[in-house]
Amino acid sequence: MPNHQETIAALSAIVGPAACLSEPHETESYTTDYRKLYRGAAIAVVLPASTEQVSQVVSWCHDHGIKIVPQGGNTSLMGGAVPDSAGDAIILNLRRMSRVLEVDTLNDTMTLQAGVTLSNARTAADQAERLFPLRIGSEGSCQIGGNIATNAGGTAVLRYGNMRDLVLGVEAVLPDGRIYTSLRGLRKDNTGYDLKQLFIGSEGTLGIITAAVLKLMPKPQATSAAFVSVNSPAAAVELLSLAKQMAGPMVTAFELVSADAMNLVCEYLGNATPPLQGQPSWMVLVEFTSTGSQEALDASLMQVLELGIERAWVNDAAVASSLSDVQAFWRIREEISDAQTRTGGSIKCDVSVPLSSIANFIDQACQTVKSMAPDCRMVIYGHMGDGNVHFNPLRPAHQSAKEFMAAHYQSVSHAVDGLVHKLNGSISAEHGIGVAKRDDLKQYKSSIELGLMWQIKQALDPLNLLNPGKMLPSL
Ligand code: MLT
Ligand code: ZN
Repeated sequence: MPNHQETIAALSAIVGPAACLSEPHETESYTTDYRKLYRGAAIAVVLPASTEQVSQVVSWCHDHGIKIVPQGGNTSLMGGAVPDSAGDAIILNLRRMSRVLEVDTLNDTMTLQAGVTLSNARTAADQAERLFPLRIGSEGSCQIGGNIATNAGGTAVLRYGNMRDLVLGVEAVLPDGRIYTSLRGLRKDNTGYDLKQLFIGSEGTLGIITAAVLKLMPKPQATSAAFVSVNSPAAAVELLSLAKQMAGPMVTAFELVSADAMNLVCEYLGNATPPLQGQPSWMVLVEFTSTGSQEALDASLMQVLELGIERAWVNDAAVASSLSDVQAFWRIREEISDAQTRTGGSIKCDVSVPLSSIANFIDQACQTVKSMAPDCRMVIYGHMGDGNVHFNPLRPAHQSAKEFMAAHYQSVSHAVDGLVHKLNGSISAEHGIGVAKRDDLKQYKSSIELGLMWQIKQALDPLNLLNPGKMLPSL
């Protein structure tokens, strides 16, 4: 086993000394996660500039038994992209691999290196009069490789699907340094196992994604949005079902926001004015988009809202009258996450259940949590259209984050996850597993599922060098 100096020297020879960081002040932002909950240590942060360099680095590490933590924009909420404190791994960060390689408007695809940020990918599509539809709050920092490795979701999944649905090809460096590639932009290829799917959602445990071919969509020409006060989560589900029946694929987003989530974010944004008066208990941000006229789209949203009022599901609605109104609505929605991070003391449960059970889940989970932590703020929001709720009890203003988490984190998250499991749901809808939820998997996945996951891991990474300790619980 080489010592740290030998490792740094060998890897510097591959990527160049300026791209192999080892001083603590240089590595700290890479070894600490986005929410500053996980602080690890690394031998070095290695910044390759090409797939060949990634392959050489990985191959060297494989031959010398050095662990690798792959990292994109380091925006994981589950501690999935930082090493543990042992200090015996390198971080392989893809940020220098940030080129859009090709936009093919006839094939409606885009080929790019893994280190392109999501916002740059969206801009490249936009400049070609197309849409790359993945939309998440961290788009300025998160990278395509990380989006694929975690099968990212976000606020437009209802219409366009998760990242998995948007990937046509992957290039990945395998744990021994070989390069797997399927960068062909094919929508049909029935030639055996669809191997790229292994890497999508694998959280860096099976290979290091270095490039991808992504699907492009027609660019919407019209957007209509409204913040809607609904009677209850059950009424919101009815409204969603009506919207889908009446407007089909134009329904792009359907995001639930609780009163406590709205109050928190408005306070965080410097006492921003809430879009709806009267402090509604439950709101949804509804967005329709189309390639047709703005007038027709506005009319279709209004029709849905009017029927919703007639059926007593909707109490009130603030309809955006300009694109800047739409952007202001989205700002409120997207800042809920950071408002909690800033406040501290948030028990993040990113769960999904079948849409038909979502109202029942929210009612029961609220009752249970209120009986355990009566003063907590019920920050509940998220992608109701996908059956995905961010159910995040937050510390009361008078209690410190430390005290609240120590008293309630374990019991509340287990109660919520247990209820989700009973309702046939998932304890991690879109944020993944990382280290935060790793050990919980034992309880919620069958031994057959866990056994198969480990068999796949062992087939590709028998030395357990790639992102060790992440996602897979010990058996
Ligand atoms: C969101 O929907 O805002 C994201 O998943 C982030 C979060 O929930 O913290
Ligand atoms: Zn989300």
